[in-house]
Amino acid sequence: MKAPVLLSAILTAASSTALYNVNPSSHNGGSPDASFVSFSIEFSSFPDFAGNKSHPNEFSYNLLNNLGRLSGSKPYVRVGANTQDYALYNASLQVGLDGVVDPSRSPDYPTTIQIGPAFFESYRTWPGVRFSHGFNLGLGGNSSEGWRTLIDTAPLACLAIGGDNFYTWEYGNEPNNYATSAQGPVRPKSWDAKAFTKQWLNGSEAIQAQMRKHCPKPAHGDYLSFMAPSYDDRVSNLNATVAWSEGLDKHGSVRWYSVHNYIDGAMSPGVTLQQTLMNHTRTTRDVDEQVAEYKRIMSVNEHHAPLIFGETNSLYNQGKPGLSNSFGATLWGVDFNLYSASAGFKRVHMHQGTNYRYQAWQPIDTDKTAKGTKAPYYGSIAVAAALGDLTRDSVSVSSIPMSSDAEAAYAIYSKGSLKGLMVINMHSYNTTKGGEGVEPLPSPSPRPSRDFSFSVDGLRPGASARIQRLMANGSDAITGVTFDGWSYNMELDNGKPVRLHNVTTGEVIRASRGVLTVRVPDSSAALVHLG
Ligand SMILES: *[C@@H]1O[C@H](CO)[C@@H](O)[C@H](O)[C@H]1NC(C)=O
Ligand SMILES: *[C@@H]1O[C@H](CO)[C@@H](O)[C@H](O)[C@H]1NC(C)=O
Ligand SMILES: *[C@@H]1O[C@H](CO)[C@@H](O)[C@H](O)[C@H]1NC(C)=O
Ligand SMILES: *[C@@H]1O[C@H](CO)[C@@H](O)[C@H](O)[C@H]1NC(C)=O
Ligand SMILES: *[C@@H]1O[C@H](CO)[C@@H](O)[C@H](O)[C@H]1NC(C)=O
Ligand SMILES: *[C@@H]1O[C@H](CO)[C@@H](O)[C@H](O)[C@H]1NC(C)=O
Ligand SMILES: *[C@@H]1O[C@H](CO)[C@@H](O)[C@H](O)[C@H]1NC(C)=O
Ligand SMILES: *[C@@H]1O[C@H](CO)[C@@H](O)[C@H](O)[C@H]1NC(C)=O
Ligand SMILES: *[C@@H]1O[C@H](CO)[C@@H](O)[C@H](O)[C@H]1NC(C)=O
Repeated sequence: MKAPVLLSAILTAASSTALYNVNPSSHNGGSPDASFVSFSIEFSSFPDFAGNKSHPNEFSYNLLNNLGRLSGSKPYVRVGANTQDYALYNASLQVGLDGVVDPSRSPDYPTTIQIGPAFFESYRTWPGVRFSHGFNLGLGGNSSEGWRTLIDTAPLACLAIGGDNFYTWEYGNEPNNYATSAQGPVRPKSWDAKAFTKQWLNGSEAIQAQMRKHCPKPAHGDYLSFMAPSYDDRVSNLNATVAWSEGLDKHGSVRWYSVHNYIDGAMSPGVTLQQTLMNHTRTTRDVDEQVAEYKRIMSVNEHHAPLIFGETNSLYNQGKPGLSNSFGATLWGVDFNLYSASAGFKRVHMHQGTNYRYQAWQPIDTDKTAKGTKAPYYGSIAVAAALGDLTRDSVSVSSIPMSSDAEAAYAIYSKGSLKGLMVINMHSYNTTKGGEGVEPLPSPSPRPSRDFSFSVDGLRPGASARIQRLMANGSDAITGVTFDGWSYNMELDNGKPVRLHNVTTGEVIRASRGVLTVRVPDSSAALVHLG
């Protein structure tokens, strides 16, 4: 038993909520695939995150390995997003990537980009991680220079990634924005789903032809497959149902149906932690709409492509400071990922880039952001811990409907039987001035806790359950996050797990009359392990 500093101070003023019934065996749940907890890395930031042959980024690799140990396989990394569609190949370039930031187009990433042969070294720095490389359709289908890039880089990508590290390919990021992009349009307004389909097929066939010519015999059948369409079809002017009926998947080359999602925009009016992110209703609305679109598309397609979030995070435009980098966003991430799993998503790639506000970690020091593990990373850890080893047992997840949109709970089943509950208390609680995460309040108000009771049929009297908590000082905290007393902060051991001795761990609760009651402080989550 560790010194109970945190919990004794906060477990006051408990108010009970309703009693929830939980099915002891799985029914209608979603079943996540291996490496459900995955990442998407901004194309132009990939050399920062992964490093290169002479300077591999060990800190990033440690953070990926922590998740790999919990999940049974390491996260998959999609390398792509807006900047994949600006990258042109220059065989003489001495560095991996050379980018020019034009603040009038975007202050956060370069919009003029050259990549050299060394870019592909970055795929060799994280043994055991699977990748998708994002090819350029924005300029690739638009200019002779872009087309040359496609022909030149397809062999470099397949040689660097090889069969062992291969996940899938991607051709174009959010092509629905090409005609209207705020960073500069690359297609005429008339460009529609039919024109998109024609160009996508032409380019993806060219990529495959190059790979057949230059790369060793594929290790498995998926080798020349893609994720697509890589946009949010709900707000799209390239209706994906039309693209599919025009034959986008006529060769069965779409292995993963990849959609993008952001709950709202960093600059959108009325965006707050409580209303926008720590709000289960908002999360379920987005995920449910995505699932409905997906079902419509698969109903016109003869090939089945499992559903993934190929790129997602809290607030588009790289996130909002004080929101996307806060512990509140960490709790949102747990809710979003587990709800997605319950609704049938097979994998979720949380997006990040250097200096992005919603990033799980900053891979290098810059003048904007210090290198380090960021609060959202701990959400990925909690989700991975909740699902457990996905390579061994069949795992399924069901959402338990709650009475408040600031609360969420999930039942997690292994081989059909209940093995855990994740309870997420998203009622906001602040300990810094103005909830800005910077200056501590001299005497914050006491932290409320709530009792969540779950009735489970067949639970034997006195059955015990182990608790692991996802904890920080409040929803406004941007540092000091722990999961089950573990810190993954860079300062401690370069991202490797370090057990802190000032956080309570090892709590056990017992069932009473078939009911398990877990007390959860506001702005925290508890993972309950049964049996
Ligand atoms: C390609 O890179 C080399 C080396 O940095 C540079 O001299 C050359 O101008 C670049 N080519 C183009 C077309 O920008
Ligand atoms: C490899 O990474 C180091 C450290 O970031 C950098 O100095 C070097 O230029 C990189 N090498 C190439 C070929 O990009
Ligand atoms: C190529 O992109 C430019 C903008 O960069 C656009 O004006 C032009 O219409 C595009 N051409 C084609 C063939 O789509
Ligand atoms: C594919 O695209 C290339 C480059 O734009 C073009 O030269 C070629 O004609 C296209 N092929 C087809 C079948 O459209
Ligand atoms: C896409 O097209 C289908 C079939 O025409 C239609 O039912 C659906 O509402 C459209 N989706 C969107 C987002 O407009
Ligand atoms: C959560 O979102 C829903 C839908 O936008 C909204 O009606 C509700 O008021 C929000 N809840 C909170 C606590 O802001
Ligand atoms: C925490 O701070 C935010 C930002 O000022 C505020 O919107 C929210 O209401 C605060 N929460 C509580 C419980 O006071
Ligand atoms: C969390 O709160 C404790 C107690 O008030 C304080 O000592 C500590 O510095 C805070 N941690 C962070 C990261 O703000
Ligand atoms: C717990 O210990 C860590 C590491 O020594 C320290 O950074 C943190 O501020 C402590 N937390 C509290 C709540 O005292």
